Amino acid sequence: MGTQDQAIDPDPAGQPALDLAALRADTPGCGSVIHFNNAGSGLMPRPVLKAMIDHLQFEAEVGGYEAATARAEQVRDFYTATAELLGTGPDNIAYAGSATDAYAKALSGIDFLPGDIILTTRNDYISNQIAFLSLGKRFGVEVVHAPDHPDGTGVDVAAMAALMRARRPRLVAVTHVPTNSGLVQPVAEIGRHCRELDLLYLVDACQSVGQFELDVERIGCDLLTATLRKFLRGPRGSGFLFASDRVLKSEAEPLFIDMRGARWVAPDRYEPVAGAARYEEWEVPYANVLGAAAATRYALRVGPAAIARRTPALAALLRERLAAVPGVRLLDRGPAPAALVTLTIEGRQAEPVKRALDARGINSSLSFREYARFDFADKEVEWCLRLSPHYYNTEAEVETVAASIAELVVTRRTAG
Ligand SMILES: Cc1ncc(COP(=O)(O)O)c(C=O)c1O
Repeated sequence: MGTQDQAIDPDPAGQPALDLAALRADTPGCGSVIHFNNAGSGLMPRPVLKAMIDHLQFEAEVGGYEAATARAEQVRDFYTATAELLGTGPDNIAYAGSATDAYAKALSGIDFLPGDIILTTRNDYISNQIAFLSLGKRFGVEVVHAPDHPDGTGVDVAAMAALMRARRPRLVAVTHVPTNSGLVQPVAEIGRHCRELDLLYLVDACQSVGQFELDVERIGCDLLTATLRKFLRGPRGSGFLFASDRVLKSEAEPLFIDMRGARWVAPDRYEPVAGAARYEEWEVPYANVLGAAAATRYALRVGPAAIARRTPALAALLRERLAAVPGVRLLDRGPAPAALVTLTIEGRQAEPVKRALDARGINSSLSFREYARFDFADKEVEWCLRLSPHYYNTEAEVETVAASIAELVVTRRTAG
């Protein structure tokens, strides 16, 4: 084993290490790109592709409705697999078109009244922040942002708990890992306060699902949303909503409930169905649902614990290499950041940096001030480059990416 491999301990608990060669052989994209944009959209493994293509073919041959009926058991497995991943039951899971779709449905199920408070953080996702402001505009909801801890480890939980007690928010909403940095927010600690004070708690796990082990009981959330295409390596256009038994037993239901979510029991009356299906729509892209099921099964087979060890460790190795490059400023905060490595390069503009990486066959992405108004204002940056490896990436790829960034700095110095 070379020194690069030794940088990551793959096997602290005596469990079998991941079979990287097999995992990469299972991933067509590994042959063509160095994919460090898993926080955008992970590379789909073959079983996901196959499930989707097979189903589209089957629909074309027998008819869309007929294909869905014939594959009912596999469709059901979307719920069973997702429930297994999160430590809950299949009836607590709703399919959604994206994380944002799931989030909007969750919010629309809350009977906000003028003056109600949404307590959130300074690192919650841009679209969630916009949705809160929209609720403010239409219903007079007040949005309160808990302060960050002065040590830079994310939200100040004690200050947030004090706000919970003083303001009694209608909803506490926290993004586990934001889109614009590797910060990991203490969602379980916040959840304990919500449970103690009986407050409704919504977690955006879009960037954490598939890279960390998640357990909704341990987090103590009522609602949790995520997408499939990122660290779960599923198809684009798929997401899910977890709704706890507590939420399902309450009157909560999405505003635009349809014939999937409710029974029309009398001309002037409908009744929501018992499970989280009340948050779904009747029409779903079944090829995507099957692709999502295959992706989650795949993650469960690879092993959430092994993924959660290797993925942030690869990112840590990348940070270590980049820290040695003059002119690179690493932006991630917190003691154990996620696999979203964010940085700026002194004197460089965003797009040319990304284009230079594209030209080297390295996938990356950019975040701008608008995506993270509080965080980027605090860091005094207008943009950052985001490099997000996943477990199927290699240490050699980390070295190549770090060397490419170092070259960009040198090129700039030479040119300038
Ligand atoms: C933290 C976070 N939440 C929510 C989303 C939205 O996910 P989707 O595009 O599936 O709606 C993203 C997407 O980048 C995200 O990073």
